[in-house]
Amino acid sequence: MLVGRDGELSRLVAWIRDAAAGRGRAVLVDGEPGIGKSALVRAACATAADAGCQVFWGAGDELGQPLPLLPLLDALQVTQVTRDPRRDAISELLGGSAVAGKGADLAAAAAEQLITLVDELCQDEPAVLVVDELQWADRTTVAVWSRLARSVRQLPLLLIGVLRPVPRRDDLRSLFRIVGPAERVRLGRLAEPAVLELVAALAGGKPGAELARLADDAAGNPLYLTELVDALARSSCLEVDTAGVVELTGAATPDSLPEAIADRLGFLTEAARGVLRAAALLGVGFSVADLVTVTNSSLAELLPALDEARAAGVLVAAGDDLAFRHPLIRTALYDEMPTAVRIAWHQAAAWALAEASAPVERVARQLLPMVSTTDSRVPVPPWAVRWLLDVATPLIGQAPVAAVALLRRAVRDAPLDDTVTGTLACRLADAYYGVGNVAQAERIALRALDRVRDPDVRVDLYTTVVQCRGLTGCSADFLPELNNALTQPGLQARHRARLLVLIARTHRYLGEIDDADRFATAALAELGPVEDRWATGWALHVLSFVAMVRGEWAGALPLFERAMAVVRGDPALTDLTLQLRINQSVTFGALDRHTDALAAAAQARELAERTGSVARLSQAQSAVGQLLLAAGRWDDALAEVDVVADDRKDPAVVCGDHGVAAIIHFHRGETAAARRHLDIAALYSERIGDQFVECLVRACSLAFEHASAPERALAVLTAVPAGEDAGEELLGDTARLAATIGDVRTVAAIEARARAIAAESAIPHRRALALYCRGLLERDPTMLLRAADGYRDAARPLSRAKALEAAAIAFAEARAEDRGSARAAFTHAIDLYAELDAQWDVARLRALFRAFGIRRGPKVKHRQVTHGWDSLTPTEGRIAALVVEGLSNPQIAGRLYLSPRTVGTHVSHILSKLGVHSRIDIAREAARHQSASG
Ligand SMILES: Nc1ncnc2c1ncn2[C@@H]1O[C@H](COP(=O)(O)OP(=O)(O)O)[C@@H](O)[C@H]1O
Ligand SMILES: [Mg+2]
Repeated sequence: MLVGRDGELSRLVAWIRDAAAGRGRAVLVDGEPGIGKSALVRAACATAADAGCQVFWGAGDELGQPLPLLPLLDALQVTQVTRDPRRDAISELLGGSAVAGKGADLAAAAAEQLITLVDELCQDEPAVLVVDELQWADRTTVAVWSRLARSVRQLPLLLIGVLRPVPRRDDLRSLFRIVGPAERVRLGRLAEPAVLELVAALAGGKPGAELARLADDAAGNPLYLTELVDALARSSCLEVDTAGVVELTGAATPDSLPEAIADRLGFLTEAARGVLRAAALLGVGFSVADLVTVTNSSLAELLPALDEARAAGVLVAAGDDLAFRHPLIRTALYDEMPTAVRIAWHQAAAWALAEASAPVERVARQLLPMVSTTDSRVPVPPWAVRWLLDVATPLIGQAPVAAVALLRRAVRDAPLDDTVTGTLACRLADAYYGVGNVAQAERIALRALDRVRDPDVRVDLYTTVVQCRGLTGCSADFLPELNNALTQPGLQARHRARLLVLIARTHRYLGEIDDADRFATAALAELGPVEDRWATGWALHVLSFVAMVRGEWAGALPLFERAMAVVRGDPALTDLTLQLRINQSVTFGALDRHTDALAAAAQARELAERTGSVARLSQAQSAVGQLLLAAGRWDDALAEVDVVADDRKDPAVVCGDHGVAAIIHFHRGETAAARRHLDIAALYSERIGDQFVECLVRACSLAFEHASAPERALAVLTAVPAGEDAGEELLGDTARLAATIGDVRTVAAIEARARAIAAESAIPHRRALALYCRGLLERDPTMLLRAADGYRDAARPLSRAKALEAAAIAFAEARAEDRGSARAAFTHAIDLYAELDAQWDVARLRALFRAFGIRRGPKVKHRQVTHGWDSLTPTEGRIAALVVEGLSNPQIAGRLYLSPRTVGTHVSHILSKLGVHSRIDIAREAARHQSASG
């Protein structure tokens, strides 16, 4: 029964009906423990089936906090074996069977998959997803909850979070900013009539004056009231008179909620209490099987105690499992054990679960109390060290913070100076690397190098150090040590090859390309017929990188093929595979092979999603964004660079992505938006010492052009370090700006460089660039028209428009009889700019040609509308049509070869452009639009 919550209940029930009708919503229910949050939400959910909604329910647990996603895995029934491919993929991922190498974030990958799973489940049937005790959920769960909350209007989903008030955690507090006040249900004390009604129901009659006064002390908290009345009944302090009024007879009444709970527990037999203490170690909800394991008894032996606990109102059934009736009851049992006893119990439970091959997270949950109590002197037992070594890799991927805590203690307690300590140190360094503490990872690895002799472990440690140094930019001073390592006795070819690869990688980090080339080649020679995928794959990776930097794009392609053939399918080399794929995509792009480039990037993206590498995912997205920018698909480019949040990307990637966005906005005359992107990029650029990022440099130069400062725009481009092979994409604009301000020497220098590049290459845009620069230098309109044709063949519309523009100017400046040609080129350029929606260029060009007396430009189609159906970009239009067909985001993603996240971004753009709130509204708008346009 539920008393005194009619208003709240009817709001929740109405929201469930809304969800069933396709209008999703995110809701927070908060209030003191025992105030009736779970009871209220459960009562509302009881109406879900009739409304046509399925219900998923999971809860946070105090002990589960260091381990990611348990509440959601539980709610969405992601268990060891299912027959659902999505769920299987998630549990496989968390089980560590696909590992994206060091720095992989399996929890993030699983989170991504869970969001997709929710999408798919909602596609089957509208849903209510409840996360109870959200204040105890891990951060990844909270992050997923908030991602779902932000996109919930795209789904037939009622998302409910239940938590205690005034959370101290910032991530929880931010949920209250996402969920508006209208969607917040704050539960306070029950009103007096409701209190009396509840007491009457519990006591079996109308409360008399004394009982009513006592009940009044319970602060309108139904849990307290329940515990209180039950306690009174147990000690026979209640008496019903003939008129049906219940009155107090005794004096000994509990005067706080904890006391009332203690009273309930006090009535249990010692045997039942023992079993319940063991259960309290497992959590609020637990499986009977686990209880059997940790108590080392049979089910038959446990049954009497469990029955007693249920009869006494301590335990309740929860699906196939059991649960404490309220978390406060579990806490009471747990807290009555002294810390040392508790830790010993937990340790025994961990051992029993590990012996029974329980999942990694269930064992870890029992081991963690041992290390989270800072003053604990309990050493990590040898079995736990062995277990940790076995599961380290998946544990680090899944719960790096927990892995750090456990491995740190294991390193401290394991016997010194042997392979075990070395290996443990390796894993601890990996774990630190996984949580982003690069400095600590490096320190651990260096310290272990001082004492470990085993060459396998040593090479592993060197690898960690090189990786850390690569990130912190202190690679140079480790080179002597690496060279020295090569001379140590007892090395096999495989060890030497790996060390040579590390030296090659270090040179590559340092930009010493020739040395990188030399050592990578030496590594391959050292290996000879010996097979070592790691060494071969990385050596080829360095060689392909060298080729890219040298601009030898065609030469890089076969290196990718060879490397990929070696590393493909090896889970330990996933990260390398990702890097190879991304670089391959960039290389295809540089060769004007756009389709191949997009295909390679899509493969990288898919693998990154699947294996949890958000950093690589954002690199792949960024590569796609730049390809789309060059190919003139600007709306799609804007969507791609917007997909991953800035704080999850490498700073250089953030700079590139905001550069792409700024370039597009500048060309479109959306100056304020462009400048916002530049401001953000500036913050990140500073963090990486203003490293050269091509797109950002282009955008910064464009900003000065916008401000009519061509000299400064040129200066930005020429400031790129001389001799830098990167920056080829900047040459065209450099020559153009230099020509504009009459800096003939610079034009001539660039022309010479472009000619040299084109001489060795058959790539269309390189040849076009040479023609463009020469045309600018010689003011030769015919040459510039040929450049425009070249850019057409390279499928680069912006460059093509610029070449046509230059040709038009050259014609106009030349002779009067060329006016016809000038007008033709001018018209063509305007058309191309208009197709890109580059309004700034259109306006600029028109003004310029008014000065030549060429006024009548063609009619320009301009997507002026910013709202409504006609404002949708072609891709948005396609996606809207699929939404109308009833496809989910993952299905649309599959159809259009986009990532589900990109589709999500597009759908939210569609919603705001149409000014509507749900997918159903999109369908309605589509129907309206169709009938309106006949
Ligand atoms: N409105 C209510 N009417 C009757 N009983 C209630 C009500 N709210 C809560 N209870 C009872 O009080 C106890 C505590 O409620 P619960 O929902 O678990 O609290 P919370 O989730 O806020 O900690 C439960 O036994 C529940 O059945
Ligand atoms: Mg509750």
